[in-house]
Amino acid sequence: MLPELWSFLSLQKLRSDICYTSCYFCLGQLAKHVFGASKVAATASTAKLELLKSLGADLAIDYTKGNFEDLPEKFDVVYDAVGQCDRAVKAVKEGGQVVTIVGPVTPPASIFLLTSKGSILDKLQPYLESGKVKPLIDPKGPFPFSKTVEAFSYLDTNRATGKVVVYPIP
Ligand SMILES: NC(=O)c1ccc[n+]([C@@H]2O[C@H](COP(=O)([O-])OP(=O)(O)OC[C@H]3O[C@@H](n4cnc5c(N)ncnc54)[C@H](OP(=O)(O)O)[C@@H]3O)[C@@H](O)[C@H]2O)c1
Repeated sequence: MLPELWSFLSLQKLRSDICYTSCYFCLGQLAKHVFGASKVAATASTAKLELLKSLGADLAIDYTKGNFEDLPEKFDVVYDAVGQCDRAVKAVKEGGQVVTIVGPVTPPASIFLLTSKGSILDKLQPYLESGKVKPLIDPKGPFPFSKTVEAFSYLDTNRATGKVVVYPIP
């Protein structure tokens, strides 16, 4: 999913304060380390907060202990990867932007559908090789192609830490 997100981030106001509901592991890192977002906040449950910080999140919000939309601080861009657009619109500054990748969409948010492009992967490669962006592969994988159904079922639990990888038929 990383390469598709490049095109999304390219559309953003780059020096923004950004809040992510989940998804920091890939998109948040790109915003912070590649596109130079001034401040990036991200949500996760308690056990994953240190990981978020170790990957550069400025603010790691424990969603099991509080609501990100109730914070006094508001954000220029809020990115919803959980399906809580109704809450995301309450966390944005006036004139800011809310984007969801999981419907339903609450105005004024918009939905973003990802498309893959090899050329974007090429742009990403130097950041991965230099370690500026750290790919995070979920430890339950990689899954062999014969276990694709299991991999998708796991993805559907919404508990993965990073990307769920299925390796191709040799
Ligand atoms: N529109 C599109 O083109 C598009 C493309 C790809 C994916 N999607 C959709 O986007 C969603 C996210 O997919 P993804 O692969 O990127 O997974 P992801 O964002 O990495 O989601 C998994 C993470 O979400 C966290 N999480 C679960 N519930 C949460 C909550 N209430 N608040 C904050 N964090 C929460 C989990 O952390 P904890 O374990 O700490 O809870 C887990 O680490 C999926 O529904 C997927 O179908 C849409």
